[in-house]
Amino acid sequence: MKVLVIGTGAREHALCHALSHDPDVTALHCAPGNAGIAEVAALHPVDALDGTAVTALATKLGVDLVVVGPEAPLVAGVADAVREAGVPVFGPSGRAAQLEGSKAFAKDVMAAAGVPTARSYVCTTPEEVDTALDAFGPPYVVKDDGLAAGKGVVVTDDLEAAKAHAAACERVVIEEYLDGPEVSLFAVTDGETVVPLQPAQDFKRALNGDEGPNTGGMGAYSPLPWADPKLIDEVLQTVLQPTVDEMRRRGTPFSGLLYAGLAITSRGVRVIEFNARFGDPETQVVLARLKTPLAGVLMAAATGTLAHLEPLRWSDEAAVTVVIASHNYPGTPRTGDPITGLDEVAAQDAPHAYVLHAGTRRDGDAIVSSGGRVLSVTATGKDLTEARDRAYTAVARIRLDGSQHRTDIAAKAAGA
Ligand code: AMP
Ligand code: GLY
Repeated sequence: MKVLVIGTGAREHALCHALSHDPDVTALHCAPGNAGIAEVAALHPVDALDGTAVTALATKLGVDLVVVGPEAPLVAGVADAVREAGVPVFGPSGRAAQLEGSKAFAKDVMAAAGVPTARSYVCTTPEEVDTALDAFGPPYVVKDDGLAAGKGVVVTDDLEAAKAHAAACERVVIEEYLDGPEVSLFAVTDGETVVPLQPAQDFKRALNGDEGPNTGGMGAYSPLPWADPKLIDEVLQTVLQPTVDEMRRRGTPFSGLLYAGLAITSRGVRVIEFNARFGDPETQVVLARLKTPLAGVLMAAATGTLAHLEPLRWSDEAAVTVVIASHNYPGTPRTGDPITGLDEVAAQDAPHAYVLHAGTRRDGDAIVSSGGRVLSVTATGKDLTEARDRAYTAVARIRLDGSQHRTDIAAKAAGA
């Protein structure tokens, strides 16, 4: 099978890493990719948001499957363009991707499907904002309605900060605060059959101890030793299947990856958000544990044959990933800094620990930073303690001037 992956992040590197180990994959392409993905896939320059260009590339390469990684091309309808050209594609239509593209739309679908989520108001005027903030009280949760790469959400006890964020957005969703740990649960779906993956936990805040601003995610681990083993089945029955059924009922079937961001509250499971694609960095740890070759799973979702797929097989090992981010992330990150130590990780820590690239590019012989999240150092081990030790050993070998990473990823779950 010839596969083309669209995107440039560590998630796409994790997808390419898994696909490159799949015996069914005979050729692997990525566009536009990054310096790390170039080691396992042929890179092609393309504007990922341009459906016509992506379709032309897929056709020229004669690929059997296109996998669209990030949300922006999905919301822009890139999967529709590829599908219309008759090429199987893993990823929802632009209309179905509104589950991620509009928080208000997602709330509407959840209400119709009876999916448990935070109570919320959609507000467009300062008066509506004031009323909603007053109704829920602190901590205030204010979300930009549109796509914001995980950075459009402000959770604060400070009423003025909540109002200021609302004023900076056109349309906001203001909702009740959900307490309890967060879980990311992904499911692969063809629009009808839903196959859940293993849960992971992400660390959204920039600093240790869940302090600092929200980011796209600073690290992740799987499995979750503290979670109820029945969680996956419960979420399948109460969240994932009803949502997929509701999308089909609306005439906008959702196929691809449905990401449920959940809070395990004292009153039960609640959806914090849906995403229409694999999460980053959770994908790095989920795929590190998936033993079933990936290409066939994605192809079954793309071609509507998931009902016939063998049950997924999972490793008993644990996986941890630690994100190395640029100076000043999640503000305007500094880029162009050289990265060294990658060879040492490859020589001394592989195969248990390896580096997945996000914002990197090649500059002559050097690899330099080119984005906010730069690398995702991923490791496996017999348990979370071993996986985390291996990940941090590898992190310590990498040098990137001004970079930052959290030192407490998976610490609590590992009992460290
Ligand atoms: P979202 O982009 O909706 O995933 O929000 C980003 C992060 O903000 C989440 O991962 C949570 O940590 C936090 N958050 C979002 N909504 C809520 C909520 N209703 N209650 C508490 N925290 C929230
Ligand atoms: N890690 C959060 C996300 O992918 O949206």
